[in-house]
Amino acid sequence: MAEEKKNRHYLTGKEIRAIAKENNKIIRVLEKKKKRKAVESEFVTEMKDPANILEVDDLHSYFYTDQGVVKAVNGVSFEIPQGATVGVVGESGCGKSVTSMSIMRLLQGPHGQIYSGSIRFKSYDFKRDEKGKTIPVWDDDAYGNPQYEQVTDKKGKEKLDKAGNPVLTRKQKRDQYGTLQFEMEEKVFDIAEMPIKEMYRLRGRQIAMIFQEPMTSLNPVFTIGNQLDEVTLLHFPGSTKEDAKRRSIEMLNLVGIAMPERVYKSYPHELSGGMRQRVMISMALAGDPRLIIADEPTTALDVTIQAQILDLLRDLKERINGSILLITHDLGIIAEMADFVVVMYAGRIIEKGTASEIFHHPMHPYTIGLQKSKPTMDSGSEALFNIPGNVPNPIDMPDYCYFRERCSKCVKACFGDYPPMVQVSPTHWVACHLYADKEKTE
Ligand SMILES: Nc1ncnc2c1ncn2[C@@H]1O[C@H](COP(=O)(O)OP(=O)(O)OP(=O)(O)O)[C@@H](O)[C@H]1O
Ligand code: SF4
Ligand SMILES: [Mg+2]
Repeated sequence: MAEEKKNRHYLTGKEIRAIAKENNKIIRVLEKKKKRKAVESEFVTEMKDPANILEVDDLHSYFYTDQGVVKAVNGVSFEIPQGATVGVVGESGCGKSVTSMSIMRLLQGPHGQIYSGSIRFKSYDFKRDEKGKTIPVWDDDAYGNPQYEQVTDKKGKEKLDKAGNPVLTRKQKRDQYGTLQFEMEEKVFDIAEMPIKEMYRLRGRQIAMIFQEPMTSLNPVFTIGNQLDEVTLLHFPGSTKEDAKRRSIEMLNLVGIAMPERVYKSYPHELSGGMRQRVMISMALAGDPRLIIADEPTTALDVTIQAQILDLLRDLKERINGSILLITHDLGIIAEMADFVVVMYAGRIIEKGTASEIFHHPMHPYTIGLQKSKPTMDSGSEALFNIPGNVPNPIDMPDYCYFRERCSKCVKACFGDYPPMVQVSPTHWVACHLYADKEKTE
């Protein structure tokens, strides 16, 4: 029966109904977990290595379709050290975007779900008092005496009491963009365990995402200013419309937009692709994030603009002292930008290491193939190397190495189990039987 099913390219109605029934059972459990009310201690955890800002640990993200379960991310583990840029490469469909969407908890539910694993993130959140309120940082004088200032309404107009006297309030510290300052604290969250409604604490504020096509992420019916202001108003308590506008213009300035006041008043369709991507970056910056996830940030742009946007990203990372997860299928971009590289294949990581290890000493036959297929200045008119064959069907993954059908270096062990992750240097790991005699495995 199983053999007969394997030889068919379709499922019968009965089989589809059985799969749907099984899927619904699992989805119900996972959705309930997502929507549950939870106390913070249920998702507060610790980093394995305090030098990291993000640790993805054995992540499994699946899509439950009527044809079967698509294991888009199937046991992925990697980390992002604080201040580093980590590049994720791999061919189309290997699970790069699903990994980043899992980190943001933006998988398309109910069919897309994080099935298991941890995503530990070191957040820098507002400290709260016992009533759950944020704690202001006061701008007292050198002797600790409180200072007072005039209260303004949301539009920036001075408030007066019934007698017509100005209303005063204790002066609170502001940053260089005029945003009110609060006491902050570091906490490690397991994003995979967080109820979905808690994610507002991280999304946009601590982890920002830059997508491939900015037009799909910018709202066409609101001005750039409107959309930028919203980030400040949403994430920085006590901000007035005036504060938000000042900050937005400053952010547009930072990403190299000339005449920011004009762009502030424009609608997305009035800007060029490069400008829109700059706006997206300024929007990501407005939340003052610790981690920026850039999913193919320059794919829709031409080469000169691409270079400018990459320069900008690098600049901004320094400015916010943050980290970047850079997803691309372009090895050139990775070589230019990344400190560490993660190579994905069919939902799994097959090799990871420092950029120098991956570029100068690639070990996995797939990574070696990727390097060979990269055009170089001296490749002349020679045909580019092409890795033969295709990725296996994601619904029906084999239990041996996923690359075997395309690999020219097969050894006997390749006909056995899926290869374990082998450590070949303190920072270099590879999942391939060719290196299985090296002692340490993950
Ligand atoms: N909504 C969905 N329903 C079913 N399968 C999905 C869905 N979204 C993604 N997938 C599957 O998950 C796998 C990984 O997709 P993903 O978008 O992460 O690829 P990618 O590496 O980002 O590719 P690309 O370079 O083309 O952006 C693919 O097999 C894809 O078909
Ligand atoms: S495990 Fe075997 S089949 Fe897989 S990449 Fe390594 S050599 Fe090739
Ligand atoms: Mg993608």
